[in-house]
Amino acid sequence: PAENQYEFIQISEPRPGVGQVTLNRPKALNALSTPLITELNAALLSFQQSPTIRAIVLTGSERAFAAGADIKEMAPLTFSKAFLDSFIESWSNLTFTVKKPIIGAVSGHALGGGCELALMTDIIYCTKTANFGQPEIKLGTIPGAGGSQRLTRAVGKSKAMELILTGKSFSGEEAERWGVAARAFDSYEELMEGALKTAETIAGYSKVAVQAAKEVVNKSQEVGLRDGVEYERRMFHALFGSQDQKIGMKAFAEKGKAKWVDE
Ligand code: CAA
Repeated sequence: PAENQYEFIQISEPRPGVGQVTLNRPKALNALSTPLITELNAALLSFQQSPTIRAIVLTGSERAFAAGADIKEMAPLTFSKAFLDSFIESWSNLTFTVKKPIIGAVSGHALGGGCELALMTDIIYCTKTANFGQPEIKLGTIPGAGGSQRLTRAVGKSKAMELILTGKSFSGEEAERWGVAARAFDSYEELMEGALKTAETIAGYSKVAVQAAKEVVNKSQEVGLRDGVEYERRMFHALFGSQDQKIGMKAFAEKGKAKWVDE
């Protein structure tokens, strides 16, 4: 797709095999309005369908990854309208339809829906000073885009309760310590470099293996251990049917470099 077809996001291919979506609604600190989410879903779908893109980076600006759902859009909503329109349901498209790995690169505010959007990505990288949190309780409401479920899985029940019931923020440094983020960086520049480098590394592996790996790790969030291990083993068996698995093992034996065919 043309780079400028969107109003609230920007897309690019900054490295070979890497697609980047940058949330770009600076005046509202990237508040996640319905039109922005519609564009985000369209961009991610186009990356999912792109033959060249193999890994995705989702980011905001240095000041804000995203400051939450758009409070101005939500203020006049009624129960019936939210219910009948399945308000926020489409946000989950990212987790359920994109098979390519997504790295969330978080700097600045990642609050409410912004924190939840980050939690939907596969790997969170952040700056040490990033400002995560679920402040919905201060607005007289609760997280609505998966925060109560994904944050709890990430930090455990007691800490998630504390964060969600007090609305207190946590830093990128804490996010890394608690395992919410895979890595926290000293600066925005290092964050972006780190995210792109990891995306490029992933993009250098077999598409089939990468997407199977993402699928089995995600399965751990859905099912019990026995079913999860069984699922993993079946997928592992299935990969004996891929050409890339043969190519990878042959290259190892010959001390060469694998040239993946994505089959
Ligand atoms: N929705 C709509 N607009 C928002 C917004 C949001 N979530 N967050 C910030 N903005 C807007 C502000 O209204 C302001 O616009 P104006 O200039 O037109 O007034 C602009 O962005 C800049 O914001 P501030 O002037 O407030 O900037 P700041 O640096 O002083 O503060 C902040 C930054 C601490 C992030 C503060 O903006 C803030 O607290 N934002 C709201 C955070 C929040 O409560 N998020 C949760 C939303 S609820 C939710 O997400 C539900 C869900 O689970 C899906």
